[in-house]
Amino acid sequence: MSAVPTSLAAEFRGRFGADADGIWSAPGRVNLIGEHTDYNAGFALPFAIPARAFVAVRATESGEAVLASTFAGAGSVRVRLDELGPEDPGFSGDGGWARYLAGVVWAFARRGITLPGIEVLLHSDVPVGAGLSSSAAVECAVAVAVNDLAGAGLDRSELVQICHEAENDFVGAPTGILDQSASLLASAGSGLFLDCLDRSTRQVPLDLEARSLVLLVIDTRVTHAHESGGYRDRVASCRLGERVLGVGSLREVTARDFAERAHLLDPETLRRVRHIVTENARVQDVVSLLDAGRLEDIGPLLTASHVSMRDDYEISSPELDVAVDTALDAGALGARMTGGGFGGSAIALVPAALAESVSARITAAFEDAGWVPPHIYSVVPAAGAGR
Ligand code: GLA
Repeated sequence: MSAVPTSLAAEFRGRFGADADGIWSAPGRVNLIGEHTDYNAGFALPFAIPARAFVAVRATESGEAVLASTFAGAGSVRVRLDELGPEDPGFSGDGGWARYLAGVVWAFARRGITLPGIEVLLHSDVPVGAGLSSSAAVECAVAVAVNDLAGAGLDRSELVQICHEAENDFVGAPTGILDQSASLLASAGSGLFLDCLDRSTRQVPLDLEARSLVLLVIDTRVTHAHESGGYRDRVASCRLGERVLGVGSLREVTARDFAERAHLLDPETLRRVRHIVTENARVQDVVSLLDAGRLEDIGPLLTASHVSMRDDYEISSPELDVAVDTALDAGALGARMTGGGFGGSAIALVPAALAESVSARITAAFEDAGWVPPHIYSVVPAAGAGR
């Protein structure tokens, strides 16, 4: 786990002239498999990564939220709590990042849970736009802080819902519950098997070290955003698929239903739906292998997931494809892009002895292509949000 930045408490005192009530943090995530299934009531298997967002927070009586961050050049945003809403001019321009914090305060307020005032100083190690849920980490850190400071006593699943509302209804990104679930519910050493239909979860053993394996994150440094563009289009395609197939969610579509009814779909929607149907099956297969202690056998399913995202869901990028293909060529057991796509990061499951050579090959491939060098590092499943 990344250490609490020692200067955060001191920096809070310097900015706000008083001590914070505490420091809370929440992790980013890697999704091992199960991509774009969350908003289709499907399955996913994320885990929390060591990189975290930290918030130093103080409850005040000021009637305002004062939101500051350690991001270079970010000023602070000051908004009135009694009229807090996404349209507040404080969130325009450079203040956009503050929506992720304020949205959580707003979603609590919708439930009648309020603080008379709040000061927040944010510091995050989770790279922004890398497909590792930097936004959920921020939301979830604020959520556990407000839950404690307001004495609300909400359980983690309710906090998932609050953060999801913040992101969808306040920030305006039409995302599912994958990232917030991972950040709030994951445990060190485990993957989180998530069923987005009933929102049940189960910890699945994921001890990479015991198998002399490492999971590399290859951050292509091509950034993405989910408020607009391709992500929104994919959600729309899934909704169209539901309507044409006459189902409440694509989760209901089995491989057999799909084979029988695919002819009803236009070619593009057919590919989108096929990704969701096959991806749900792959998640279940990976979970079965992990339950059976066969971690080293999941590689082909990871790679099949990538192929499905590249060819059917069409959310990969040249950089992600090169990262995946090169990793496999250099001896990875499996590799795939992770997260929403259109940039961001790939992951590769690699025998520990090959980690360095795989990384070097990928770096060389990026250099040959004339791209900025990727950031490559290994991650292990880390703990979820906490004080
Ligand atoms: C983003 C969204 C998640 C999920 C993934 C794709 O991370 O925030 O809700 O849809 O993309 O699996």
